[in-house]
Amino acid sequence: MSELTILFLRTSPLLCVLVLLLSLPFRVISQDANTEKTILLKLKQQLGNPPSIQSWNSSSSPCNWTGVTCGGDGSVSELHLGDKNITETIPATVCDLKNLTFLEMNFNHIPGGFPKVLYSCTKLQHLDLSQNFFFGPIPDDIDKLSGLRYINLGANNFTGNIPPQMANLTGLQTLFLYQNQFNGTLPKEISKLSNLEELGLAINEFVPSSIPVEFGQLKKLRYLWMRLANLIGEIPESLTNLSSLEHLDLAENDLEGKIPDGLFSLKNLTYLYLFQNKLSGEIPQRVETLNLVEIDLAMNQLNGSIPEDFGKLKKLQLLSLFDNHLSGEVPPSIGLLPALTAFKVFSNNMSGALPPKMGLYSKLVEFDVATNQFSGQLPENLCAGGVLLGAVAFENNLSGRVPQSLGNCDSLLTVQLYSNSFSGEIPAGVWTASNMIYLMLSDNSFSGGLPSKLAWNLSKLELGNNRFSGPIPPGISSWVNLVDFKASNNLLSGEIPVEITSLPHLSNLLLDGNQFSGQLPSKIISWKSLTSLNLSRNALSGQIPKEIGSLPDLLYLDLSQNHFSGEIPLEFDQLKLVSLNLSSNHLSGKIPDQFDNHAYDNSFLNNSNLCAVNPILNFPNCYAKLRDSKKMPSKTLALILALTVTIFLVTTIVTLFMVRDYQRKKAKRDLAAWKLTSFQRLDFTEANVLASLTENNLIGSGGSGKVYRVAINRAGDYVAVKRIWNNETMDHNLEKEFLAEVQILGTIRHANIVKLLCCISSEQLKASCL
Ligand SMILES: *[C@@H]1O[C@H](CO)[C@@H](O)[C@H](O)[C@H]1NC(C)=O
Ligand SMILES: *[C@@H]1O[C@H](CO)[C@@H](O)[C@H](O)[C@H]1NC(C)=O
Ligand SMILES: *[C@@H]1O[C@H](CO)[C@@H](O)[C@H](O)[C@H]1NC(C)=O
Ligand SMILES: *[C@@H]1O[C@H](CO)[C@@H](O)[C@H](O)[C@H]1NC(C)=O
Ligand SMILES: *[C@@H]1O[C@H](CO)[C@@H](O)[C@H](O)[C@H]1NC(C)=O
Ligand SMILES: *[C@@H]1O[C@H](CO)[C@@H](O)[C@H](O)[C@H]1NC(C)=O
Ligand SMILES: *[C@@H]1O[C@H](CO)[C@@H](O)[C@H](O)[C@H]1NC(C)=O
Ligand SMILES: *[C@@H]1O[C@H](CO)[C@@H](O)[C@H](O)[C@H]1NC(C)=O
Ligand SMILES: *[C@@H]1O[C@H](CO)[C@@H](O)[C@H](O)[C@H]1NC(C)=O
Ligand SMILES: *[C@@H]1O[C@H](CO)[C@@H](O)[C@H](O)[C@H]1NC(C)=O
Ligand SMILES: *[C@@H]1O[C@H](CO)[C@@H](O)[C@H](O)[C@H]1NC(C)=O
Ligand SMILES: *[C@@H]1O[C@H](CO)[C@@H](O)[C@H](O)[C@H]1NC(C)=O
Repeated sequence: MSELTILFLRTSPLLCVLVLLLSLPFRVISQDANTEKTILLKLKQQLGNPPSIQSWNSSSSPCNWTGVTCGGDGSVSELHLGDKNITETIPATVCDLKNLTFLEMNFNHIPGGFPKVLYSCTKLQHLDLSQNFFFGPIPDDIDKLSGLRYINLGANNFTGNIPPQMANLTGLQTLFLYQNQFNGTLPKEISKLSNLEELGLAINEFVPSSIPVEFGQLKKLRYLWMRLANLIGEIPESLTNLSSLEHLDLAENDLEGKIPDGLFSLKNLTYLYLFQNKLSGEIPQRVETLNLVEIDLAMNQLNGSIPEDFGKLKKLQLLSLFDNHLSGEVPPSIGLLPALTAFKVFSNNMSGALPPKMGLYSKLVEFDVATNQFSGQLPENLCAGGVLLGAVAFENNLSGRVPQSLGNCDSLLTVQLYSNSFSGEIPAGVWTASNMIYLMLSDNSFSGGLPSKLAWNLSKLELGNNRFSGPIPPGISSWVNLVDFKASNNLLSGEIPVEITSLPHLSNLLLDGNQFSGQLPSKIISWKSLTSLNLSRNALSGQIPKEIGSLPDLLYLDLSQNHFSGEIPLEFDQLKLVSLNLSSNHLSGKIPDQFDNHAYDNSFLNNSNLCAVNPILNFPNCYAKLRDSKKMPSKTLALILALTVTIFLVTTIVTLFMVRDYQRKKAKRDLAAWKLTSFQRLDFTEANVLASLTENNLIGSGGSGKVYRVAINRAGDYVAVKRIWNNETMDHNLEKEFLAEVQILGTIRHANIVKLLCCISSEQLKASCL
């Protein structure tokens, strides 16, 4: 090189100076850019060439590439590689970018331990590795990244202790370690990070620890996020020294004791989440935190009343205090707050009147005051803002009428006013509010008739124990999405219209305790989903329609205390009921075979003309009745009868022998097809069990099968055997599911789970012994 220069000098000094002048500055820039381009291309290679950074190619300048930012001098200063589908570990190459200050690689799939290679990035200030697959401990020498101001390692699988050396990173303004698997103690050394403004330790399984008192020294802290961090003990008074605090989230821990008074004096506090702890005592009454936007103290054991001062929080949008022991009245000033959108105080012990102006001065979205002892009326203007989703006030002592204005509230999804003392008619618009899904009004004194039109999407209509009257309108066929229609114990009358049977999603229909009369519709249009039908305590008459026996999902049927007559339809044998009550009617004829056992002891009471074949039910024997009714005293007839009986007996005996022989062979064959899986040592065999699955031993019957009582030895020990409905074409997946379920039941122990002894299965049938 020097020789070459000399050569130049000798031949032409002028040219040499010219060359130097031209090439020196040019060379420096182009070579730097070139090397950084080379570095980045190598980096791209090492990161596995993800398609997301395809634009990194040699034909353009790196400063224009996606995710690359250059400083004023043209060198790469920032790499924004978040959400780029990177699946490789971070290569050392990245620190060849000597001026890199900012590295963001969040939302990728980067595996491995903490990337120590980054220690060579001497100018690094901002490091975001959140939302990756990192695991293992944070190394003790993390303080080698001494220039860091921002570090986010959240949402990875880091484990172990947070090293105290972290506290040597004194420049840190943001420390996010949330949502990892740190399982050591809370490092109180963090309190030395005097520049810290944001601290996120939430969602870690720390050893149960109290909040370090020293955290009160973090004078610049604005954001403290320690939700779900296994915190115990009291909230230290010292936190009230965090004068810059804006966001405090200590929710979902096991904190107890009082809320420090001073917390509500932190002037800049905006978000306060302390829900789901064990905090007790009263909410501090003096409140200076006038910037509060959200207060969530729900699910604690707070008592006392809502501070009067909450009525001064002009920015407050959310006030959530549910599930506490609060008492007293809601300060009326809360009803005047201009920003309040959610007011949730359910499950407390509050009383008095609700703020009458609530909803008038702010756009209320959620209103839930259920399960308290509020009295007086529902506020008149809850929906004045037009965005109310729910008016929920069940289980109170509220009275009066439902405000007319709720009938002009199309945003409503639900109105739940049950168990109060409301009266009067429901405003027409409430039935038809276009988004309404649940309308729950039972246990009040509402009156008036049922609407012929209903909100198209309404699925739950609960009106029980009121004074609704008049007929079910034929327009009920438009209530198409109704799943539950519960109107027990009202004054409804007229016939049950055939239109009600057209509701395809109806699952529960409870109309017991009304004044319905006439016959049931003989045609059932749909009712494919009906599981529960209760029409008891009405004045219905005529035959029970045979279609009821064909309802595929029916489990509960109660037609008791009516005037039904005629026979129980044969089709009832197809039902798989859990509960049946036909008592106190005028039914006659034979009790269907399926119900002729102890499981239905109370299903047919007070029907004087019914008979049974099985003597175990307390009914006259059907054949005895038959005999009684056709008495033939003639002697010849007696002779013929005797002869017939003799012939019959002989034939029977012969047949019996043949059949028994056949059955023995068959039983042997059948038994071979049975497989017994036992979970305990058993003193019985599958033959014991199978022989006893007869109607005589039936003790219960349900949707998925029948339950039998089976004697397993002479000592009088019994087991319960559940027989799952046999279905020739039992779905293969269903079978696997059944066997898996049985395996689990067989191995777990729990007070509420019966001991499963064994499982017997064959191609067509599954049985389990309990
Ligand atoms: C990441 O990959 C998935 C599929 O592998 C693709 O749908 C997605 O668009 C990619 N994201 C980016 C930022 O390239
Ligand atoms: C290089 O990237 C640019 C976009 O930055 C693209 O237009 C060009 O086609 C790419 N060239 C090659 C050779 O891939
Ligand atoms: C970056 O690209 C823009 C056009 O997309 C171009 O005008 C500019 O000169 C490029 N800059 C560099 C440093 O290559
Ligand atoms: C880094 O930045 C400094 C000062 O801004 C500059 O002098 C130096 O050339 C840059 N280094 C590289 C490798 O670009
Ligand atoms: C963290 O580890 C658990 C198992 O310990 C694993 O199920 C989970 O997928 C891992 N998550 C990440 C982000 O690596
Ligand atoms: C923390 O987790 C690691 C790895 O999962 C384990 O080895 C260690 O024993 C755990 N420490 C504590 C205190 O539970
Ligand atoms: C780093 O932290 C450790 C433990 O907290 C301490 O012993 C050490 O002196 C610190 N190093 C520096 C350079 O501050
Ligand atoms: C709050 O800070 C002051 C001054 O720094 C200190 O004297 C006081 O003890 C601290 N209060 C609490 C409760 O830690
Ligand atoms: C409170 O917030 C205001 C406005 O954001 C700010 O000027 C002030 O310094 C903050 N107060 C404290 C004590 O941090
Ligand atoms: C609240 O509970 C505390 C005990 O936790 C009790 O001392 C206090 O009197 C109670 N306050 C009210 C208003 O019931
Ligand atoms: C609710 O308050 C009443 C008095 O108003 C009191 O008798 C009752 O015990 C309280 N109930 C609960 C659960 O705190
Ligand atoms: C609420 O009403 C019930 C019965 O309607 C009554 O027993 C109770 O005393 C009432 N409670 C209040 C606080 O008014």
